[in-house]
Amino acid sequence: MTTTATPATDDDQLPRTQQADDPFDRDVLPTPPGATAALLRSLLAPMRSRVTLTTVLLLLQQAAVQAGPLLVAYAIDNAVPALRDHDHGPLIAVAVGYLLCALVSGGLQFAFIEASARVSQDVLLDLRGRIFRHAQALSVDFHERYTSGRLISRSTTDVESLRELLDEGLQELVTVVLSFVYISAMLLWLDLGLGAVALVSFVPLYLLVRLYQRRAGRVYRARSTAIAAVIVKFVETMNGIRPVRAFRREAANDAELAVLNRRHERTNGDALLEMARYVIGSRLVANTAVAAIVLWGAYRVASGSLELGVLAAAVLFLRRLYDPIDRLGMFLNSYQSAAASLEKIAGLLAQTPSVPEPSAPRELPPSKGELPGREVVFDGVRFAYRTGGEVLARFDLTLPAGQTVAVVGSTGAGKSTLAKLLARFYDPSEGRVLLDGVDLRVLAVPELRRGVVMVTQEAFLFSGTVADNIAIGRPDATREEIERAAKAIGAHEFISALPDGYDTDVRKRGGRISAGQRQLVAFARALLADPAVLILDEATSSLDIPGERAVQRAMSTVLRGRTAVVIAHRLSTVEIADRVLVMEHGRIVEDGRPDELIAGTGRFADLHRAWRDSLA
Ligand SMILES: Nc1ncnc2c1ncn2[C@@H]1O[C@H](COP(=O)(O)OP(=O)(O)O)[C@@H](O)[C@H]1O
Ligand SMILES: [Mg+2]
Repeated sequence: MTTTATPATDDDQLPRTQQADDPFDRDVLPTPPGATAALLRSLLAPMRSRVTLTTVLLLLQQAAVQAGPLLVAYAIDNAVPALRDHDHGPLIAVAVGYLLCALVSGGLQFAFIEASARVSQDVLLDLRGRIFRHAQALSVDFHERYTSGRLISRSTTDVESLRELLDEGLQELVTVVLSFVYISAMLLWLDLGLGAVALVSFVPLYLLVRLYQRRAGRVYRARSTAIAAVIVKFVETMNGIRPVRAFRREAANDAELAVLNRRHERTNGDALLEMARYVIGSRLVANTAVAAIVLWGAYRVASGSLELGVLAAAVLFLRRLYDPIDRLGMFLNSYQSAAASLEKIAGLLAQTPSVPEPSAPRELPPSKGELPGREVVFDGVRFAYRTGGEVLARFDLTLPAGQTVAVVGSTGAGKSTLAKLLARFYDPSEGRVLLDGVDLRVLAVPELRRGVVMVTQEAFLFSGTVADNIAIGRPDATREEIERAAKAIGAHEFISALPDGYDTDVRKRGGRISAGQRQLVAFARALLADPAVLILDEATSSLDIPGERAVQRAMSTVLRGRTAVVIAHRLSTVEIADRVLVMEHGRIVEDGRPDELIAGTGRFADLHRAWRDSLA
């Protein structure tokens, strides 16, 4: 037999960017031992009684099915001789009994399928829910590395392969095991010698099953990794369709996808080959056993030590015994791919958020005074992304409640990192970030969400209406409040001009909204959320100059009383700031009132002069 390709040799053919060093580039995250089994148990535990019921239904159904050969033996050995004495009773009883068994087993099978389908649907519903909830709760750095393509693959292909196991595979397994037990018992009871031959044939069959299981396990794991890689590539390409077009990546992507598709095709072929070897091997064993029994049985019938009916029943039983072996292969198939999938899902579910929810959450102290703003302190904060060097080294900063601070500095200086630490997308590796004296790590999550809101460049809109999108931070807001927020930010005019105004679906035709307009919606959203601390990270970068001017006029209203961190590269924003920080290489190199800094001779004075000249 040829050995099947392992994923390691496949990787050599992939473009460099697809090669995996980081565990996150692989599909299976480190899964704690026993996690897969524990997951399966926890999924099935709530339906223990229903699982028992379905098993009982199957037991009864098998009893009805396996009565057939016994009735045939009775017909040959008793009913036919009785017929010679003109006694029709036994034969009629056999015929009626045979029909009854068929009816009863049909009815039981129906009940079983219904009951087991309900169990499997509930299990899958539960599992999909768990994947979604868990993925949503995981921290931003997890998503940056695991990618949405892998998550999609987990909750579609992998859940689907578990469905196949539950819907078809388990029934097969239970049927096969039950009929093995029933039939062996029947054979032994009918005739010890014939039964023993059948039992001996189980040994090579068992070895065959073990061999198949081991080999197929490897193949199936490789196959599901290959499927996931295709999905990941697909999702990534479509998510990045604009840069793909802009940089003419189509041909390169086609080539990369072709490699991945070929790998998928090859692993599929490997899986089929394994299956074929198994089926051929098992048939060989089965037919050898049948031949042996027919041979030996015929001699014994001739010599009078075995009844013909018993031999007929034994052969019928044997056929029934070996028929399901192909199906056992099918079961092992779906078992292998479900096990591979479940392992991946368990690995995902075993991930813990790197930004965990506090175990003993604290509330913020009551606000001092009328204004919503709160004090922000960075206390000796160090921070490094998982991949890469330290971005902030012993960073100290105090923003008094209600201050508007503009942060400027070159690209890569660490401005966005500062913002993300303040919004607790990440936790510092050392030191603390405090909101009114409370460490963000112990602050109750709803308090944090209400307290700190960040508007970024991306300004993502969810499907739904414009009004829904503005109200995301405050779903209970009235239409009046939503419009007031939009008006304050200067978004009311363009929204009113949309086909259905505030009720325009942002994903539908005619609801198309430009990048700048999206940013205005994001501003209105932040304003409506009414946070104590508002962070704007290049949030006006998609606006044209008049648009930005309009936002700036609105800004004084929006920011009034709040603590605000405004990161911008257009220095016009600085005019509304109480304080300017210039950041370089993760440090604050200048800190002061805008007019002071402009009048001085530092970095900001240079930047400001250059910017003024560029406007002229
Ligand atoms: N998600 C990330 N993973 C790893 N490194 C990052 C990540 N985001 C930013 N960095 C790195 O951190 C440094 C600071 O980035 P950032 O805070 O985004 O700078 P700025 O917003 O000032 O342009 C850069 O060197 C950047 O490469
Ligand atoms: Mg940035």
